[in-house]
Amino acid sequence: MSGAEDVDFFTDSALVANPYPYFDELRAQCPVHAVKHPNVVAVTGYDEAVEVYANSAAFSSCNAVSGPFPGLPVRAEGDDISELIEQYRDQLPMSDLLVNLDEPAHHAQRALLRSLLTPRRLKNNEATMWRLADSYIDKFIEAGTFEVMKDYAKPFSLLVIADLLGVPEDDREEFGARLGAEKPAPGVGEDTQKVSNNPLEFLHERFSTYIEERRRKPRVDVLTDLATVTYKGGSIPEIEVVVGLATFLFAAGQDTTARLITSAMRVLAENPDVQRRLREDRARIPDFLEETLRTESPTMSDFRLTRVTTTVGGQRIPAGTTVMIHPGAANRDPRRFTDPEAFRLDRDNAGEHIAFGRGAHSCPGGPLARAEGRVSIERFLDRMTDIRVSEAAHGPAVSRRYEYEPSFILRGLRGLQLDFTPVR
Ligand code: HEM
Repeated sequence: MSGAEDVDFFTDSALVANPYPYFDELRAQCPVHAVKHPNVVAVTGYDEAVEVYANSAAFSSCNAVSGPFPGLPVRAEGDDISELIEQYRDQLPMSDLLVNLDEPAHHAQRALLRSLLTPRRLKNNEATMWRLADSYIDKFIEAGTFEVMKDYAKPFSLLVIADLLGVPEDDREEFGARLGAEKPAPGVGEDTQKVSNNPLEFLHERFSTYIEERRRKPRVDVLTDLATVTYKGGSIPEIEVVVGLATFLFAAGQDTTARLITSAMRVLAENPDVQRRLREDRARIPDFLEETLRTESPTMSDFRLTRVTTTVGGQRIPAGTTVMIHPGAANRDPRRFTDPEAFRLDRDNAGEHIAFGRGAHSCPGGPLARAEGRVSIERFLDRMTDIRVSEAAHGPAVSRRYEYEPSFILRGLRGLQLDFTPVR
């Protein structure tokens, strides 16, 4: 590949299938490198990415999801644009999401989230994961083939979050249908004419109703805990804040985890040796997942807006610059990971990857995603032998065809058809 600086990362479809040579070339030139899009620098080095994540005083998260689109509505000038950010942050897309907040608002909401994701809740949630995993596998076990994303990973990761937040059992099928995880169940449409077709609006409406009801009439359930959660000082958050947090957990936790499970299954199906070793020693599954997260990080780009002119990796980054961190590139930085392209079950530092980010905004769903991956792999290995890539869908081993989601924010397969022999 030549001329990485001529590539428009945001529109070049050639990068969708494999962005790694582009990342490597950028990193080799400089781990903090201006890209073709105006006023954007890409961070492809490990130490440099960690440095940006750790420095929330210099780098605002106000554009964490939207990046340079559309950016601030005015030209940034000077070496400190903190005031400008505060003045215009509400005009940036999804500005009230936790991930886009800066301190002190971020800290207060993050503490609310901590009181929702308690160890007890996570433990109960894991019990549900085992049941859910089996219920989805039951649906295709006899067929000896399944499409990992659609038949398992998406609906599974959606219903894990629904369970975590205490969505009533009776409503879960509708959540699956509304959020695109499964085909709508017969009759569901008629019952829910009042509710919007937009998934995020649907979630917003549902959680507003749940929280309002529970605040009026508390019950003994998870939704009541959610409705009555308080800030550290004891004050009660606005309903909108709680609803926003609950809604965002679906957005942040479903697609990312579904991609992790799908990537992990591809590694397993493409590498009989790895599959055999995991079957022989299940205790290696967590290492296997860490190495999957390192080599196929589901978040492709994570953004910051430079608040104060700052130097990272010897490069001056002027205030107002959009910094684009590529966790997947940092996780293949040869200065941190030896032979970074290779998938190694025995890699001793795979867990140092930054697929979950770092610093104040680092992913609070990491333990959940890891548990979902572990439970899924355990049950796949228990119930299927000889898991292999479907040649009918993806071609023979020498010339596989895989389709990736055309997104510059997330990285992952559109679908993965696997064949297997059911364990009877
Ligand atoms: C493999 C799966 C996942 C990956 C790769 C992932 C990745 C990330 C990354 C990179 C960030 C940092 C964003 C930033 O610094 O701008 C993040 C934040 C976040 N993630 Fe995850 N995530 C995953 C699963 C989950 C799950 C299962 C949940 C919850 C159900 C979740 C909830 C969140 C939330 C709420 C934030 C925002 C935290 C904050 O701003 O303080 N994630 N995630």
